[in-house]
Amino acid sequence: MLDPSTSSGKRTDLLRVTYAEMAGAQPEGLWFGPGRVNLIGEHTDYNDGFVLPFALEKKAVVAAGRREDDLLVMYSLELQERVEIPLSGLAPGTGGWSGYLAGVVWALQMSGHPVGSATLVLSSDVPLGAGLSSSAAIECAVVAAMCDLYHLDIEPMDRAKIARLAENSYVGAPTGLLDQAASTLCQEDSGFFLDCRSLEGVHVPLPMAEQGFEMLVLDTKTPHSHVDGEYGARRQSCEEAAAILGIPALRDITDLDDALSRLEDDVMRKRVRHVVTENSRTLEAYEVARDGRLADLAPLLDASHASMRDDYEITVDTVDLAVDTARGAGALGARMTGGGFGGCIIALCHTGDGEGIAQQIAEAFAAAGHRTPEWFTATPAPGAGRLA
Ligand code: GLA
Repeated sequence: MLDPSTSSGKRTDLLRVTYAEMAGAQPEGLWFGPGRVNLIGEHTDYNDGFVLPFALEKKAVVAAGRREDDLLVMYSLELQERVEIPLSGLAPGTGGWSGYLAGVVWALQMSGHPVGSATLVLSSDVPLGAGLSSSAAIECAVVAAMCDLYHLDIEPMDRAKIARLAENSYVGAPTGLLDQAASTLCQEDSGFFLDCRSLEGVHVPLPMAEQGFEMLVLDTKTPHSHVDGEYGARRQSCEEAAAILGIPALRDITDLDDALSRLEDDVMRKRVRHVVTENSRTLEAYEVARDGRLADLAPLLDASHASMRDDYEITVDTVDLAVDTARGAGALGARMTGGGFGGCIIALCHTGDGEGIAQQIAEAFAAAGHRTPEWFTATPAPGAGRLA
């Protein structure tokens, strides 16, 4: 089992050596897809709304090369497991971890791109099930690899859509485009503000260090999964509300009070209120970041968390405790990030404060009998591409 703390140089060497053992040749290259933090804009993507993620240094890396036979050969360094599937035998719904790789090759085929066989050796240091897009990181790394190996000229947003097709239709998780767009399109030192309807995006600088801030990311170690029912249930509730209101998506609500007055179900009203207010907060966060007023992100993060906790009801005890403790310990603002029901929180802190804040959260977790959290400070990193 590969230790998650293995240095990236060692990881790269191991990928090359393992690839050579499996394929009898050096890989044609190494490609990566990053994990992401969503700064704000949660559960808005599948409502045609706005999101504002940034990519992480933590990434999935694949050593890849073409093969002469008809096989897709996949190996995970972390799990030390090998899976082989004939290209003609790719079938949605199959294969645990390997589904994220095979699904991309299938999605490329489905989208009419001429891809052939490949050996793909994978290693990732994106924590699994922590709300940091470990699955999109793999998918986007594989899209990047296959595009280069088979000279496919596919625009970045279309690459993200192919990765999402793999997630939705091969793996079977009914997610929006946030994670794959972030992992593919993000740029260093920037957030990526995306209109999930028009698919127009703007890169907005996030000079946190320059302004005296750092972003703490703390994994509560309460794992989640999007293949299970809660995510799908939220999504369905939004679609039903849009149908009752006679609009294509909740993005189209212009008068929240009027919309709420036309819905009878209390739970549905809460879901709608989250989506509409979260869209406004995300737009505002974009404007705040664009104007270089990063401190003004803090109240938006706080309000987003309250909305996820009270209206969308996707937080859990550990996550709420982490957010409350972060604030009490001096974070300027904090919220859960990602799909919810566990996973990570982010906290905007003054430079140098993140470690102490995380320690206080760890103490609060110990006192409450929760698992020991893990943390790091995040710097916005580039989107998927060739590593070597
Ligand atoms: C998961 C999904 C995304 C998005 C978020 C919630 O990360 O993959 O599409 O819906 O949850 O914002």
